[in-house]
Amino acid sequence: ARRTTTSKDRTGEGGELHQAPTKGQVMTTAQGVPMGDDQNSLKVGERGPTLLEDFAMREKIFHFDHERIPERVVHARGYGAHGYLECLDPVTDLTRAAPFARKGKRTEAFVRFSTVAGNLGSFDLARDVRGFAVKLYTDEGNWDLVGNNIPVFFIQDAMKFPDLVHAVKEEQDRGWPQAQSAHDTFWDFISLMPESTHMTLWQMSDRAIPRSFRFMEGFGVHTFRFVNADGESTFVKFHWKPRQGLQSVVWNEAVKINGADPDFHRRDLYAAIEAGDFPQWDLGVQVFDEAFAEEFEFDVLDATKIIPEEQVPVRTIARLTLDRVASNVFAETEQVAFCTQNIVPGIDFSDDPLLQGRNFSYLDTQLKRLGGPNFTQIPINAPRCPVAHFQRDGHMQMSRQEGRANYEPNSLSGDERGPRADVDNGYTSVPREEGGQVRRVRSETFADHYSQARQFWISQTDVEQQHIVAAYAFELGKCELPAIRTRMLGNLRNVHEDLAQGVADELGMPLPEANPAAVEPRTDLPESPALSILLNG
Ligand code: HEM
Repeated sequence: ARRTTTSKDRTGEGGELHQAPTKGQVMTTAQGVPMGDDQNSLKVGERGPTLLEDFAMREKIFHFDHERIPERVVHARGYGAHGYLECLDPVTDLTRAAPFARKGKRTEAFVRFSTVAGNLGSFDLARDVRGFAVKLYTDEGNWDLVGNNIPVFFIQDAMKFPDLVHAVKEEQDRGWPQAQSAHDTFWDFISLMPESTHMTLWQMSDRAIPRSFRFMEGFGVHTFRFVNADGESTFVKFHWKPRQGLQSVVWNEAVKINGADPDFHRRDLYAAIEAGDFPQWDLGVQVFDEAFAEEFEFDVLDATKIIPEEQVPVRTIARLTLDRVASNVFAETEQVAFCTQNIVPGIDFSDDPLLQGRNFSYLDTQLKRLGGPNFTQIPINAPRCPVAHFQRDGHMQMSRQEGRANYEPNSLSGDERGPRADVDNGYTSVPREEGGQVRRVRSETFADHYSQARQFWISQTDVEQQHIVAAYAFELGKCELPAIRTRMLGNLRNVHEDLAQGVADELGMPLPEANPAAVEPRTDLPESPALSILLNG
């Protein structure tokens, strides 16, 4: 009943499925039959109809007809690379997670960068959030840190994610825009969702047109938990800091690059790695306890808020290096399946309602995208540590599941009783007290939607502020319905008068009344210098 496989076992009996054809090799059908002719179909006479009997032609065309799989419902356009995470500062007092066990320890990694809104064939320099998804193949299973290049998000509760994505994607009655947020439905939704204000300030800033994937930060966004070997837990936020520096392009450059080379970002990453100029990011953590969470001005479970680095410094604990391009984009970049629920001993979730929803969504969508429940066996998704369980069968089952018993407990296998849970060392969730009524209301601690947006605005240099104003004006200028522009200006007045006035001037519109705010925006918060990005350097 024991089943222990590694990714190597899954490449086929001898790994031959994944070997590149060698020179001089005889071409075969998928059944291994040597091909006698790959140029002509089987016909009656010299110019007669093609015969159904031609199994080689039918097999070839059948396979071609089924080459495509659904693109990701969001983040469809992406580019990946292999690398490793190296531990710089073992934090065993904070977490028992395997990658941080000792200084110098290396953990294999695969990273996929992406745009969010655009379809698979769209362009790289869209003004958009960038995905920064990292899969770490740890000794105790796969840990996916599925983040973005912006530390906050549009919404507070996963319940609104389908609405957000419907609003940003192409409009259903016309089929455009395919990669832009500059259109009515997006800004209609945003203008009616004040909680998105902070995120859209970041999105309208230079952060949303990075010079390349190599010059972006990454963020885990949510509050997670570290758990040490004694079961003690602390809160943690994850940051990726590019050792290349943080760089963006300006909008006019982005527009030009998109026209001249829509593949600019993927080409840049590929070229850098192939040239041996391996990009690196420091993995930093902001660690804090329940007491800090209690006294912090905002709710640490609210994904529309950051914890300023001035309040909780970022401590560097590891370094990510990307040193190998994917050898097959479909097999690796397309078939990779990141999921926020993939965590390992030493890591746990917080109760962030966005994170809780994500934990369901990724696995669910991948069942469809990758065609069944066995996609963990695809080499790019397979753990690099032993896997042993009684999950059985299903479409595309590739592993050899041997023995008679496929259940636990069993007594049929003698001493080899098959896999058992390890009560002492296996994964356990942090015990925590939860209580109260089951209800659907949003906590009041999530109600302040403007103060941190204001903090972001005032942290920006003059030039960066001009870019933000120009971006809002360009985007809102693309909206056909004036009411949307007015509502957005009313929103921006709650952030800062200079911002709202600047955008109104560019749009040639009078400044409307500020929209009613659930909580008065705070003006006493200090600016947060860590938020500013020095353009091109
Ligand atoms: C895909 C990040 C919120 C559902 C992705 C990807 C990233 C990402 C980086 C691309 C993964 C890849 O490269 O394969 C984020 C971040 C979020 C967020 C940082 C908020 C903090 C959500 C929410 C949901 C969601 C709230 C749903 C409730 C999805 C789905 C995919 C996806 C369905 C496609 C996955 C696939 O087909 O493999 N997200 N996301 N995301 N995200 Fe999110």
